[in-house]
Amino acid sequence: AVAELQGMKRGKLRLATVTTAQYFIPKILGRFCESYPDVEIALEITNHQEIEERMLDNEDDLYILSDVPTDIPLEVEPFLENPLVVIARRDHLLAGQKNIPIEAIENEPFIMREPGSGTRETIQQFFHQHGISVPVRLEIGNNEAIKQAIAGGLGISVLSRHVLNLERSDGEFTILDVRHFPIRRQWYATYPSSKKLSVIARTFLDYLIETSQDRENHLFHFPPRVTPRAS
Ligand code: PGA
Repeated sequence: AVAELQGMKRGKLRLATVTTAQYFIPKILGRFCESYPDVEIALEITNHQEIEERMLDNEDDLYILSDVPTDIPLEVEPFLENPLVVIARRDHLLAGQKNIPIEAIENEPFIMREPGSGTRETIQQFFHQHGISVPVRLEIGNNEAIKQAIAGGLGISVLSRHVLNLERSDGEFTILDVRHFPIRRQWYATYPSSKKLSVIARTFLDYLIETSQDRENHLFHFPPRVTPRAS
C-alpha cells in the first residue's frame, strides 16, 4: 500500500525560494527524494521582488520567503527562524566586544544587497527606525559574494545567520554583538489561496514543516553566536 501511495507521488515539484533558502532547501530536497525518487524538481533561487513576480505569473507550486507580500491572497505556513545578524571579518576591531551600541556601525563601510532584496528592505527599515545611516560602500546581489567582500576587508554587512551555516565557527567571520540585533524574522512556505496544491507539493510542504520542527536536525544548527576576537 505504501508503494502504491508513493507511486502516486511522481510528477513535477516547482519551488521558488529567496536566496538564503539555498543553504538548506537542496539538502531537504535530497532527503525528500530518497522517499520519492520519481519526483522531478525545478528550484528557482532569487530575491523577494522576483519571487513576487513569479507568484503573480503563477510559475511555481510553492514559494519560500521571509517577507510575505500583503497584496496577494496567500496561504502562509511559518516554519523556521531566519534572523539577520551583523557579520564582520574575524579580525574586526569590534569583534569580541559585548553589547556594542548601534551607533558604532554608522562609521563602518557597509556592503548592501541589491534593490528587490527583502534583506535590504528589512535593514533599511530597521536603520531608519533606529535613526542611523550607514555608508554603503558596495552593493552586491549575492550573499556569497558579500561574504567574500567582507573577507576581503571591504566592510561589514547584515545578512541572514544561515549564510554562515557552512562556515566553521573558527573561520573567517564573526557575528558582532550589536545592540538591537539579531533582527528577528522567519521563513514561510506560501502559495496563492486561489490554488489547490498538487499531492506532491502538499507532501513536500508537510515534510518541510516536520523536518524544520525537529530541533535535533543538524541541517539547522547555527554556528556559535559570537566568536571571540582573534589575537
Ligand atoms: P532576499 O531574501 O534574497 O530577498 O534578500 C533573503 C531572506 O529574506 O532571507
